Amino acid sequence: MKFAGEIALISGASRGIGAQMARQLAQRGIKVIINYSKNTDAAASLQQEIRREGGECEIMQFNVSDFEETKNAVSNIIEKNKRIDYLVNNAGITADNLILKMGEDEFGRVIDVNLKGAFNCTKHVSKWMIKHKFGVIVNIASVVGLMGNAGQSNYAASKAGLIGFTKSLAKELGSRNIRVNAVAPGFIETEMTEKLNIIQKKSLIGSIALKRLGTTKDVANLVEFLLSENASYITGEVINISGGLYI
Ligand SMILES: NC(=O)c1ccc[n+]([C@@H]2O[C@H](COP(=O)([O-])OP(=O)(O)OC[C@H]3O[C@@H](n4cnc5c(N)ncnc54)[C@H](OP(=O)(O)O)[C@@H]3O)[C@@H](O)[C@H]2O)c1
Repeated sequence: MKFAGEIALISGASRGIGAQMARQLAQRGIKVIINYSKNTDAAASLQQEIRREGGECEIMQFNVSDFEETKNAVSNIIEKNKRIDYLVNNAGITADNLILKMGEDEFGRVIDVNLKGAFNCTKHVSKWMIKHKFGVIVNIASVVGLMGNAGQSNYAASKAGLIGFTKSLAKELGSRNIRVNAVAPGFIETEMTEKLNIIQKKSLIGSIALKRLGTTKDVANLVEFLLSENASYITGEVINISGGLYI
């Protein structure tokens, strides 16, 4: 795969899917800015691992749901690196509950991180991209944003919102040579899905055509492709990666 850019910002990259993307992009010679919100130990250990393997990266703590914090972080990245070529809006949380029990806070928090967080990062990063007529953005949605899921109305709404956000931006930014796509994973083995018990996992696997959960590598491979020049005519797409859960 060929890459035209040099610097990538991945939100929520200290663990799980984001961490795997950081490893793979660093192996491609791209300098990765690893954003996280709380767990400095996890971010620092990933940084050490990537640097040990000869990759370039930095860790950066900021809360993507905070507009001013994100604005300052992005301007620091640009000041130091002179550019941001790739943005992966990956930071995401869940706060599952049935609608009758779901508090305003549970709904608001999930929308704030998953959807507004993507807006905050994109708003500030796209300014540089528009000026320099180059950029690639990938938003990490979920098949739940397409299918819905009982107990996840907040999460599904945030991911469905992210899909509309992706398509609108692809139309808005295409003429500036900026591509915007979304990836919609099914169930991937990370700390997020560790919360499922064995019975839930068994029943879930029964509904997946490939009869297994996905790996972080499965998703990172697709994101890597979308960021690369090999995907230079792909924009505004939502690509499911669910092992056939969503057919
Ligand atoms: N796992 C799945 O099955 C699955 C399926 C479909 C879609 N997805 C989506 O894929 C993305 C990654 O999921 P994952 O399973 O890898 O998640 P994860 O293992 O729970 O990791 C979440 C990451 O997001 C960071 N984060 C959380 N809140 C943040 C905030 N406000 N600001 C900045 N960073 C924040 C966390 O950092 P700290 O630890 O420091 O808080 C961590 O690095 C999410 O958008 C998720 O919705 C996951």
